[in-house]
Amino acid sequence: MTILQTIPERMTAISISAPGGPEVLTPVHHDVPRIGETDVLIRVAAAGVNGPDLSQRRGQYAPPPGASPLPGLEVAGEIAAVGSAVDGFAVGDEVMALTNGGGYAEYVAVPAGQVLPLPTFWSMEEAAALPECWFTVTQTLVMRAGLEPGMSVLVHGAAGGVGGAAVSIAAALGAWPIAVVSSPRKAAYARALGAAEIIDRTREDLVEHALALTGDRGVDRVVDLLGGETAAKNIAACARGGHIVQVSTLAGGTAEVPLRQMMARDLTLSASTLRPQSPATKAAIARHIHEHLFVHLENRDFPRPRLTVLPLEEAPAAHRALEASDHFGKVVLLTAWGRREEI
Ligand SMILES: NC(=O)c1ccc[n+]([C@@H]2O[C@H](COP(=O)([O-])OP(=O)(O)OC[C@H]3O[C@@H](n4cnc5c(N)ncnc54)[C@H](OP(=O)(O)O)[C@@H]3O)[C@@H](O)[C@H]2O)c1
Repeated sequence: MTILQTIPERMTAISISAPGGPEVLTPVHHDVPRIGETDVLIRVAAAGVNGPDLSQRRGQYAPPPGASPLPGLEVAGEIAAVGSAVDGFAVGDEVMALTNGGGYAEYVAVPAGQVLPLPTFWSMEEAAALPECWFTVTQTLVMRAGLEPGMSVLVHGAAGGVGGAAVSIAAALGAWPIAVVSSPRKAAYARALGAAEIIDRTREDLVEHALALTGDRGVDRVVDLLGGETAAKNIAACARGGHIVQVSTLAGGTAEVPLRQMMARDLTLSASTLRPQSPATKAAIARHIHEHLFVHLENRDFPRPRLTVLPLEEAPAAHRALEASDHFGKVVLLTAWGRREEI
């Protein structure tokens, strides 16, 4: 990578012209963002595509106040400018970052606390697929639910972005991931990420299998993206003291929950979204990743997400790819600079 010499006034970015389908993602010329004293400006090589981007595009997930209206919650690239109060980063550093929006662009301004170094053996496109899902899983499963080595973890949507990160992180921390998927191809991918066991939700009973796999004890932790009718199944599948982290509601935003079972077995159900968290919270998650998980990313053999890579200008195709039911792994957009460089 070359060290950036000049920062242009304008850049190519993808905007959401109106709430709607993938076709509303439109390439535009946009001012390069200005940075505050605690921010860095990242020249973007690659930007990850995530479930929340789909919701934002559909008009169902507005950016928090002050955030860029442009989509894109994670990037990898090179630092192009550093705010006056920032320590620890310099122009030319290769990094990955959780953004507050605006990642589908050639440049993005990011609070420095949300920036991590590029892991040694990771390409820009691999690293761009990491922050959003790793911050989500680190905050919920690791920091809040206190995942420990030896625990069993039931992971829904295990071949997707969040689920795949949950499987990888759980395996890296010495836990025992049980991956819930919907096809043999997704099962093979979840195994490659580190899943110890598989439940195919299209053919097998979730609760029965989770109990059978844990000798009738139940699972210690659950990462759920579905909600709806799955909520009660998660509770039935939990061991005493179990903790369910709810990160999405793809199958239903309301649920009937057997509270007595929860009380009798000392269960916890927690739920959150990452995007509106404060900069201090996001920085604390970044620190946790750096201090406790980064060592695993530095292992050359650490499993990488399966990638579908497209040019930035093909953001509509990227959203269609992520929305397809047979999709697994992550989708990444490459800027013109990211495509030209050897990364
Ligand atoms: N709370 C947070 O902070 C946070 C952060 C990031 C993302 N999210 C949300 O988490 C969800 C998953 O994001 P992602 O990036 O992991 O998405 P993804 O890559 O598309 O993965 C979702 C997985 O869920 C499974 N699934 C099961 N039932 C589904 C249904 N009814 N509709 C769609 N998928 C279903 C699918 O796998 P199978 O077919 O194999 O079951 C799919 O692979 C999104 O709603 C996203 O907005 C929340």
